[in-house]
Amino acid sequence: MRISKRHLAKSFTWRFIGTADTFLLSLLITGNWSYGIKLSAITTVTKLLLYYFHELIWFRSNLEDSNKRHVIKTFSWRLIGTLDTIFFGWLLTTNPFIGIKIGVIETLSKMLLYFVHEKLWYKTNYGLENRSKFHTNKKVKDFSKKKQVIDIINQPYEITRKNREKLHGHKSYLLWFTGLSGSGKSTLANLVEIALYKKGFSVFVLDGDNIRRGINNNLTFSPEDRSENIRRVGEISKLMLDAGIITLATFISPYFKDRQAIREIIGPECFIEIYVSTSLEECERRDVKGLYKKARSGKINNMTGISAPYEAPFNADIEVFTDNQSIDESVSKILDFIYKKIQFQNV
Ligand code: ADX
Repeated sequence: MRISKRHLAKSFTWRFIGTADTFLLSLLITGNWSYGIKLSAITTVTKLLLYYFHELIWFRSNLEDSNKRHVIKTFSWRLIGTLDTIFFGWLLTTNPFIGIKIGVIETLSKMLLYFVHEKLWYKTNYGLENRSKFHTNKKVKDFSKKKQVIDIINQPYEITRKNREKLHGHKSYLLWFTGLSGSGKSTLANLVEIALYKKGFSVFVLDGDNIRRGINNNLTFSPEDRSENIRRVGEISKLMLDAGIITLATFISPYFKDRQAIREIIGPECFIEIYVSTSLEECERRDVKGLYKKARSGKINNMTGISAPYEAPFNADIEVFTDNQSIDESVSKILDFIYKKIQFQNV
């Protein structure tokens, strides 16, 4: 068996504290130095051994929450430690009550000492240099997440969104195009962008395919990754809006809750949801990228509409029906809706 230097060192530091505690308590309770020395000597040896195995077992556990882990570990070790003290206290004094008394008082004092000892050890990486167990991976990640929440405060900008909107001469809005793959989101968004650009509006399209080739190229089409994809795009859109730009985002965004989250990130007053309502049959008939064919033959998984869900919006601000509406009609419908909103009233 390979002996871990971390476990050994921890065993020794704790044993030192534990022995001092047992010695003082048994001296106080029995009033006899000899019992104090004997009991602390015997329990030192037995507990060193027991503690080492306790550490080994806990090291294999996947419980990663720092406080939970330390509290449960404190209890499990205390149970073993107390039984050890009671047993040897009884053997030495031949009086089971003295053993129990020392054991019970020791339980309380050691619980506290052990918790502090665990917390202090948790802060050091001693003995973990070549390991990639929980201390170096996830825990650090979780810790950094917590730190972000605690340590990062909002830095106010000198030049505000209002200032930038004034400079651009219009308000910034997020136009969120949702719909199946091949429904026509990108086509419509590009035409709306051109129309706005020609009229002098500052406008930019965030396109699902492009974003997934760049900043989000580490994300799959699993439900969790799709949510993360949308969350990041929501944050990017927010920055674009702060920069005073009318942003058009074209993402399948199949989950209602994710679109709702965007609405909250952006603020409902400048979020316009556009549902590009095209039937699956029509999207499949178009199959511009050949994805539906691949999905039907099982070459790709999680294809929206085939093997992954699409939760259609029931309260979209604009709904366009590309099955039976011309592209121009759909573009006009969108432009008519947004023109008034994006312009300053007095302009
Ligand atoms: S979303 O669901 O996370 O919002 P997003 O709009 O970013 O999807 O990306 C969709 C694009 O990825 C589609 O237009 C299509 O070209 C491509 N794609 C590749 N695999 C899939 C799939 N399994 N499901 C949907 N789209 C896919």
